[in-house]
Amino acid sequence: MFRLSVRLAFFAASALGLHASIAAADDAQTARGEYLVTIGGCNDCHTPGYFFGNPDSSRFLGGSDVGFELPGQGVFVGRNITPDKETGIGSWTREQIVTALQTGQRPDGRLLAPIMPWHAFAQLTEEDVTSIAVFLQSLKPVSHQIPGPFKPGEKVSTFMMRILPPGETAAAAPK
Ligand code: HEC
Repeated sequence: MFRLSVRLAFFAASALGLHASIAAADDAQTARGEYLVTIGGCNDCHTPGYFFGNPDSSRFLGGSDVGFELPGQGVFVGRNITPDKETGIGSWTREQIVTALQTGQRPDGRLLAPIMPWHAFAQLTEEDVTSIAVFLQSLKPVSHQIPGPFKPGEKVSTFMMRILPPGETAAAAPK
């Protein structure tokens, strides 16, 4: 009886210990993802307000309000990458997020414009890219439908970064 209860106690303790170490590993992976997202500049292009010097932290990674024009390809707005099901990437699996970061391919087959630096992110280790996906999936879902992408010739409903030929005048500070 004594041996049995000792064994049971040991079993319970190791099960608890295992649980705790899995939880700690999850925390470490999310923290690693957060770190990589911070230095990866995701906030710059995916959080509204960033390009106006005032990122809206209540809509962190909830989709930009500025698009990038790629001549001949159109205008691409940094998308909502929070886990919102309707307007973000909440219906994507972890593997689908990893694939998009490594190959630029969305689950619907469309290739992301190269202004999204997936060519660079393709160099991340499997562990790091997975940590980014884990962190993105841990975010607060933000409901924010970004427009676009806009085809060449289409009217654009957001601000946009445009590449202009040399000789243009630098814009004055906004009043
Ligand atoms: C220089 C700007 C820029 C940076 C930096 C950037 N992105 Fe993006 N990202 C974009 C744009 C623009 C798109 C949309 C491209 C398109 O629609 O073809 C996009 C698309 C995506 C998508 C696809 C979403 C969808 O619905 O198709 C994911 C996922 C993503 N980015 C994740 C990230 C992560 C994670 C980081 C940081 C590690 C990051 N991005 C950094 C500009 C950027």
